[in-house]
Amino acid sequence: MALIGFPKDFLWGTATSSYQIEGAATEDGRGESIWDRFSKTPGKVGDGTNGDVACDHYHRYREDIALMKSLGMQAYRFSVAWPRILPTGRGKVNPKGLDFYNRLVDGLLEAGITPFVTLYHWDLPQALQDQGGWPRRSTAEAFVEYTEVVARALGDRVKNWITHNEPWCISLLSHEKGLHAPGLKDFRLALAASHHVLLSHGWAVPVIRAASPGAQVGITLNLSPAEPASASAADYDAFRHHDGYFNRWFLDPLYGRHYPADMIADYIKAGHLPSEGFTVVQPGDLEAIAVDTDFLGVNYYNRAVLRSDKVPEEKNHPRTVHLAPESEWTEMGWEVHPDSLRKLLTRLHVDYGPRKLYVTENGASFSTPPDAQGRVPDEKRLNFLRDHFLAARKAMDAGAPLAGYFVWSFMDNFEWDRGYAQRFGIVWVDYKTQQRIPKDSALWYRDVIKANGVQV
Ligand code: NOJ
Repeated sequence: MALIGFPKDFLWGTATSSYQIEGAATEDGRGESIWDRFSKTPGKVGDGTNGDVACDHYHRYREDIALMKSLGMQAYRFSVAWPRILPTGRGKVNPKGLDFYNRLVDGLLEAGITPFVTLYHWDLPQALQDQGGWPRRSTAEAFVEYTEVVARALGDRVKNWITHNEPWCISLLSHEKGLHAPGLKDFRLALAASHHVLLSHGWAVPVIRAASPGAQVGITLNLSPAEPASASAADYDAFRHHDGYFNRWFLDPLYGRHYPADMIADYIKAGHLPSEGFTVVQPGDLEAIAVDTDFLGVNYYNRAVLRSDKVPEEKNHPRTVHLAPESEWTEMGWEVHPDSLRKLLTRLHVDYGPRKLYVTENGASFSTPPDAQGRVPDEKRLNFLRDHFLAARKAMDAGAPLAGYFVWSFMDNFEWDRGYAQRFGIVWVDYKTQQRIPKDSALWYRDVIKANGVQV
């Protein structure tokens, strides 16, 4: 056995988000979010469930922090629910909402756990959706107001901030594909949403810095490392389009390169943008989006292999194929491919040069239940995490400035359109009793953190 070590100040943690774990959906003045509305619309969530109760973390956060501490966690990434703070999106602040996050942050700090706060992890106040939501510029303005309220309240103690979680999901998945709230299927609106999400990030960064001296601020993207299925020109073009759609559309403007010209051309050709181009972009917007940040957060789950088939029902997006039928797959139907994490982190370092990188999410859905002794032998998740940690380590050897790793997720929770059927936690949640049981992967992760390295 040998220990593959990590740098001395490397940060190990886990991640969650408000709607997925908190519950208490109508408590202490919380307003309605688009996920309350969407999950209660028949047919939108696979198992017909919603986040009304979830992991009841709103009431159990103290025990959850204690459990994190007992597992040796050094950091915890969670999100603030906008409708708890501003129940109708703008205007009147709900002090009870802030109180909850104040208590949570204090509890984490007392336990020696560094909080990483995500400001937006998808629970937009429904009132803002009723006014048009992310496709409207006014929502970006509202986000900045909300950011200021939260950063002023928590900024003395929280020093790590993430503006948005996964802009691709906020915009395209939710407004083009309609799979997440608000469930629209309109490519033009989706592209407008993507711009306003990025713009709100750009506007929010200086606001956070002003309210939280010494803060480290970044954004988290879900990136899709991709490769063409063959060396043919057509497959290469499918790959180019996929990379543009998922990755470069967000990375390029964030790193000062404007929206990618090849994608604007593709979208005009497909009728997703007018012939004049991306007209929602106003003078000064691109400069705002390209604001200097301290880190880039990366959520990585799987890779994509592209071939050029045009699939009409997918609006002619190139089709993803799987080259390796012998691969392992998680219960989400996602291929397990750790080396793509290595490639992704290395590429980000080489192509975009972020000051620092964090893996803000990585993990796997396997539903392994407790055995007769009450132990959860989730060996597949443990192997998944080990192999991804090692892949990340290799990227660091190649120069990628990776500063920490957050496993998704601390505990099983509400997996959006899949409901509670998919379990990503390293801690098992019994939704009937709200009992938590650390799975084998959590006990193994505790040892990784203690040794600051992986035994191989
Ligand atoms: C990314 C999202 O940020 C998170 O909310 C979700 O549960 C995981 N991926 C797993 O799908």
